[in-house]
Amino acid sequence: MTGEARNALARAAVGLAVPVVAIVVLVWWSPSWLYPWFKAFHIIAVIAWMAGMLYLPRLFVYHCEAEAGSKQAETFKVMERRLLRAIINPAMVATWTFGLWLAWDGGFLRDGWFHAKLLLVVVLSGVHGFLARCVRDFAADRNTRPQRFYRIINEVPTLLMILIVILVVVKPF
Ligand code: HEM
Repeated sequence: MTGEARNALARAAVGLAVPVVAIVVLVWWSPSWLYPWFKAFHIIAVIAWMAGMLYLPRLFVYHCEAEAGSKQAETFKVMERRLLRAIINPAMVATWTFGLWLAWDGGFLRDGWFHAKLLLVVVLSGVHGFLARCVRDFAADRNTRPQRFYRIINEVPTLLMILIVILVVVKPF
């Protein structure tokens, strides 16, 4: 295993361990008076996650136009890596942590709207994983997908976000 792969594995392990430990502690401690505060933190994390998820494919669209090895292409690599590691990844972990606690404390675990929302958020997390793979491909100058592909994929997080927000606010079923 290369050093980079080891680092990626370590980051993924920490990213998984932090929310699991946080959720176990919060469920055991059960500070219900914190509900509105955690909802606020959940929404802040959602905004950061979505901002990154909407911007990253846009960067890929411009990156496709830059010649491999050019100064512009190298700048895009730095922007993509920083956006993923400093904003998108931690924001997703925070969204899941606060969201699962809210679901448990609010008693929503058996509700239809919550199951539908969870399914869409799992799909959104899958898109997140795919975009992280694209960042690695661009970083190694081995992207083969056309610009049009990233223009289309750019709309997927938007569509999922609209459906998720309607489900959680309207709670239609
Ligand atoms: C990661 C998994 C997620 C879980 C488990 C989760 C769960 C929850 C729960 C249980 C609530 C409280 C609902 C209430 O108090 O009525 C909530 C609020 C909210 N969530 Fe999530 N959520 C997640 C991700 C997301 C995502 C990705 C978005 C947007 C794209 C989102 C948007 C919102 C909004 C806008 C609210 C406030 C709704 C209101 O107060 O009316 N959540 N979430």
